[in-house]
Amino acid sequence: MDRQDMPGDVAAARARAEELRALIRHHDYLYYVLDRPEIDDAAYDALMRELRELEERFPEIITPDSPTQRVSGRPAAPFGRVRHAEPMLSLDNAFSADELRAFDQRVRRVVGDDVAYVAELKIDGLSIALTYEDGVFVRGATRGDGEVGEDVTANLRTIRSLPLRLRDAGRPVPRRVEVRGEVYMTFDAFRRLNEEQAARGQQPFANPRNAAAGSVRQLDPAVTASRSLDIWVYGLAALDPGPGGAPASQWEALQALREWGLPVNPHARRCTSLDEILAFIEEWAERRHELPYLTDGIVIKVDRFDHQRALGATARSPRWAVAYKFPAEKARTRVRDIIVGVGRTGALTPVAVLDPVLLAGTTVSRASLHNADYIREKDIRIGDLVVVHKAGEIIPEVVEVVKEARTGAERPFRMPDHCPSCGSRVVRVPGEAATRCPNAACPAQQLERIRHFASRDAMDIEGLGPAIIEQLVSRGLVRDVADLYHLTAEQVAGLERMGPKSAANLIAAIDASRDRPLRRLLYGLGIRFVGERVAAVLARHFGTIDRLMTAGAEELAAVPDIGARIAESIVAFFQDEHNRRLIQRLAAAGVRAAAGEPEPGSAGAPAAEGPAGAAPAPGDPGGGPDGGLAVSEEVRARVAGKTFVFTGGLASMTRDEAQALVEALGGRATSSVSRKTDYVVAGEGAGSKLARARELGIPVLDEEQFLRLVGRK
Ligand code: IVH
Repeated sequence: MDRQDMPGDVAAARARAEELRALIRHHDYLYYVLDRPEIDDAAYDALMRELRELEERFPEIITPDSPTQRVSGRPAAPFGRVRHAEPMLSLDNAFSADELRAFDQRVRRVVGDDVAYVAELKIDGLSIALTYEDGVFVRGATRGDGEVGEDVTANLRTIRSLPLRLRDAGRPVPRRVEVRGEVYMTFDAFRRLNEEQAARGQQPFANPRNAAAGSVRQLDPAVTASRSLDIWVYGLAALDPGPGGAPASQWEALQALREWGLPVNPHARRCTSLDEILAFIEEWAERRHELPYLTDGIVIKVDRFDHQRALGATARSPRWAVAYKFPAEKARTRVRDIIVGVGRTGALTPVAVLDPVLLAGTTVSRASLHNADYIREKDIRIGDLVVVHKAGEIIPEVVEVVKEARTGAERPFRMPDHCPSCGSRVVRVPGEAATRCPNAACPAQQLERIRHFASRDAMDIEGLGPAIIEQLVSRGLVRDVADLYHLTAEQVAGLERMGPKSAANLIAAIDASRDRPLRRLLYGLGIRFVGERVAAVLARHFGTIDRLMTAGAEELAAVPDIGARIAESIVAFFQDEHNRRLIQRLAAAGVRAAAGEPEPGSAGAPAAEGPAGAAPAPGDPGGGPDGGLAVSEEVRARVAGKTFVFTGGLASMTRDEAQALVEALGGRATSSVSRKTDYVVAGEGAGSKLARARELGIPVLDEEQFLRLVGRK
């Protein structure tokens, strides 16, 4: 059927699609089951093509059982897809000796008591599959969804320890083999990388694993090459052995991998009893701290491959292996001092300065103590020996004080009476935990406010990191966020570690932020209690900052999701003369916010304007270049009341923007896939949510289909 013959309305399209699906199912059955096809490939392809085109034009007619939904699992767009020769499964975890005993008993029930295991370090990095053909490295892939990964060959080639050709000395190289392993980053490389990130004003990586994963997925192999990655290989998948024959056990496989010149971790042990395994675990629970890389447990594998085959696998994980996970790490260290930082709202935050201690892979020398009450409750004193751990593996926290270790020389901490940055007398609002500096012009607050304004979820000004903001503030070039828009490239180039090129980039990034949507601006202003979600609600409801500024507490509190406390905080913010001036100056500097931005869903709100009714920026006719507000009723009807889950990254907008778009059209964006989910939108690098959608039979849209559905294409 030609495009022009296609049904023009949804009902007709839906009917035709159902017809096509029935036809395709019928021919599938004839072909795959009965092996008696009645039509040729070209005719079959034509049916599929017609259905695909229909579903592209009318994404809302896609059904989970449509034949077009059979294939997918979309890994990152810029990297090609690679289907693994055998699925890359994950491992079941064990956290105690009892759980390991149960594992051992299950194994023995199947293969008998003549069983041996190989215990290996579980490397905390990124799993990858390497394919060698006739000894030559031809492809490297990430795990992806386990079935299909991303082709990262060019990036993996930059890893020095990865041989591009296998050694042909002794054991003949196989015709074809897929080798499994873990890419990781040493602590040293991680530290260096984070220092460089900081010098460039970029966010540091939270841990070596994230750094390794981020580096492997770099689009530019030159960047990967600069990141000092390493690799350990630990397994064989598909093997076409050739004359050399195939290893019969994991232990032999490790030996073969080693002989072929691949990096195999030396700390593996063949064990013939549970006791030996437990001894190995105990040894490495201590010794792992001597290693220059992160291990988070011990993997125990049944040695013989025929035993492994007899045990088999579930859809998720093999029954012949288990990962013992080391308990969450804690460390003891001493509180050298307690210093006080000032946040953007003026809240004084006490921070413990610690004797540096290695904790879960990074050196910790600071831990937030939150507020005076927290310190009092835990009775933390300067000089105390304390136990620290990492909340969510990232943020170090003081768990408890080792009181037995006190000598009497410890000094209790007192919250200062004056702000450590500007010297103003601090206040403590009754009923609130925080102590605050009331001076809005306090340099520490200025710095934090600018940092928040520039942050990724707010105005997203790339390259404007803390080190640069600090210089801008201390040199008096910038006092508040409006000043950013008057900076010149010459001024920026004069800062430390800034060249003309990075200065020009920063100015361009600041310039680009003038067009950020209203909700980002509102969030970026740092109004108390106005987080990202509330900012989105406000932007949608009021449409312009002007309208929001004139709203009273009652009107605000009548908006769904806005409580009295939030309403009062917003009113107070906009009553403040200083804040009003700031918004006028932002507008005058061309921060258009709503103007160019379709803040769809603000249909009832007046046509978008610049903040504070500002004069349009030069070159902007004032009406906004984008006709995005004119969302058709049809689009709204498709989205309203529907629940969306986003997974992976979209190329044309951030996930926040996509969610806001859905919400603005009356839909809901949630974070987990359930039976109530109507659509899963899978972008680049979509993961477990995509798998879950498949499991539950929920329609999956790619970016293109999503954009059509919301009327953006
Ligand atoms: S064997 C069938 N051995 O741990 C799975 N995995 O969920 C076979 N890992 O991301 C995995 N060190 O990449 C195995 N010595 C080791 C490992 C190891 C790290 C990772 C693996 C996967 C996770 C297991």
